[in-house]
Amino acid sequence: MTKTLNAIVNARLAGKEGLHSLTINNGLFTEIQPQTSPVSATDHELDACENLVTSPFVEPHIHLDATLTAGEPRWNESGTLFEGIECWSERKALLSESDVTSRATQTLKLLAAHGVQYVRTHVDTTDPQLTALKAMVKVREQTANFIDLQIVAFPQEGIWSFPNGRELMEEAVRIGADVIGGIPHFEFTRDYGAESVRWLVELAHKNDLLVDVHCDEIDDPESRFLEVLAAEALRLDYGTRVTASHTCAMGSYNDAYCSRLFRLLKKSNIRFLSMPTESLHLQGRFDSYPKRRGITRVPELLDAGLKVAFGQDSIRDPWYPMGNGNMLRTLDVGLHACHMLGMNRIERCLELITDNGAAALNLKNYGIAPGQPARCAVLQGQNAYEVLLGQHPVLASVRDGNVLVQRAAVNPEADLLIT
Ligand code: FE2
Repeated sequence: MTKTLNAIVNARLAGKEGLHSLTINNGLFTEIQPQTSPVSATDHELDACENLVTSPFVEPHIHLDATLTAGEPRWNESGTLFEGIECWSERKALLSESDVTSRATQTLKLLAAHGVQYVRTHVDTTDPQLTALKAMVKVREQTANFIDLQIVAFPQEGIWSFPNGRELMEEAVRIGADVIGGIPHFEFTRDYGAESVRWLVELAHKNDLLVDVHCDEIDDPESRFLEVLAAEALRLDYGTRVTASHTCAMGSYNDAYCSRLFRLLKKSNIRFLSMPTESLHLQGRFDSYPKRRGITRVPELLDAGLKVAFGQDSIRDPWYPMGNGNMLRTLDVGLHACHMLGMNRIERCLELITDNGAAALNLKNYGIAPGQPARCAVLQGQNAYEVLLGQHPVLASVRDGNVLVQRAAVNPEADLLIT
């Protein structure tokens, strides 16, 4: 039975001292008041028990059409992108609407159990039947009570390099895609890649849709489609609606080129998504030693004032056998890989899986403030540092004043039998 709240009490909030109570009316936050001391919660109040309350987590980049297929029909033993593509082409032949619907829904429930309420999924459009895309449009409707789902028309095998690539993308828009994707570094030629970027940004602009491109997901320092994407976003004054995913090649660009590139990135104000667990696993595969990390310049982008968020990319699919839906795991790995364990970074790290993801998804009405939808997560820990140290599943997830998830706090010392 759904529990509807009229307040959350004994909450800690980022950037605010002490405890607070958040009043809820008709599914909206109406008031945020400091408390002088802890209070007892009534039946229609949720006791945050002096833990940190944040906006719900955002999973900004995942492939729900492929999740939970690892090992089907075989395991990717080398762990490379290319063996993953081979495994996927065998698994893709078995796709049906019910198969996609069931795995996508199961994954969304897993994410919801970890405090995620906003998800952007890429769905492969290089399938003449668009089977997965049609299924995902239905999943978006069926799961709307617990997840806001954005669907990206994602041309896994290219737009210019796949038969009828453009027509399939246009058909995806008619079927109901929210976001236009691309994969320029995978197109047959550099010209194809650049042309595809210009074309897809126009397609989005014409249809009032968002853009999210798999951009330069390769260790090749010559892969420079990000500049094309940013220039197009700037030309159309569309930057806040454009996201560059991965941009792994930026980790291999030289500093002189980056200094020129960053001028354009700042002017364009596009958003960035990095998937650290996936990139650590798939990139650096053509290096001997030293091996690159294959991760974009996350701290440098943040310091330039740009929005960067972390995503999981995969949960148990042919490219990545791991993943449990807990964004705190991704955050932890990302902070390690990006040299971001200074306390100034840790204090603001939750923005990488909340506010910055919301910016990438161009979400309206996101955040804990009077007048906003009463959506939040109660995390185990009093501040970001404690939350990150524990990486415990969320204690609660609240959506429009209704409790979606509630669980007991983990006591890490409960099973310690020695003294
Ligand atoms: Fe991806």
